[in-house]
Amino acid sequence: MLKRYSITRLTERELDRILEIETASFGKEAYDRKLFAEYLRKCGDLFLGAWKGRKLCGYMLTRKSADSPRAELISVAVDPSCRGQGVGDALMKSTLRRLAHRRTLRFSLMVKLTNTGARRFYEKYGFTKVRLVRGYYEDNQDAISMARDLPS
Ligand SMILES: CC(C)(COP(=O)(O)OP(=O)(O)OC[C@H]1O[C@@H](n2cnc3c(N)ncnc32)[C@H](O)[C@@H]1OP(=O)(O)O)[C@@H](O)C(=O)NCCC(=O)NCCS
Repeated sequence: MLKRYSITRLTERELDRILEIETASFGKEAYDRKLFAEYLRKCGDLFLGAWKGRKLCGYMLTRKSADSPRAELISVAVDPSCRGQGVGDALMKSTLRRLAHRRTLRFSLMVKLTNTGARRFYEKYGFTKVRLVRGYYEDNQDAISMARDLPS
């Protein structure tokens, strides 16, 4: 089957485009440049981008320390014009493959209770609700903590 997107580790060169996707996706709640620059340093090849030709369509950012079997999905966003076309799917599958190679047993995340699109997306990849966290976000909105196991 033709590979629709290439997945690469992101670098400082892509910061402007990452911020563009981020702002289009999260508006006032977007992460800023400084935070992304820090994640680029900390997350290494778990800060991934999906490319269609020369266009960066989306990113997925995951944190995993070497001495823990747990990983945390920090953020994922796909350019609004590219959604519903398998970009998130390509990013999630690549992330899951990389985590499996690093002996990850548990993959968790937080998502806004009201973000039903993202919740459906995560459910498709086996994440289930762990608990409701009241007032988790800065705007006091509630979060759902979700997680899935990875095969050992
Ligand atoms: C959530 C998001 C990353 C999904 O990316 P995407 O590229 O549109 O997702 P895909 O097209 O690869 O979809 C993969 C699967 O996820 C599910 N899915 C994705 N978006 C969905 C939606 N809005 N509603 C229901 N299911 C959805 C579907 O099952 C889909 O598979 P299918 O096409 O075979 O039905 C994207 O919508 C996005 O960037 N949203 C805004 C940012 C955001 O909310 N991020 C999460 C913060 S916690």
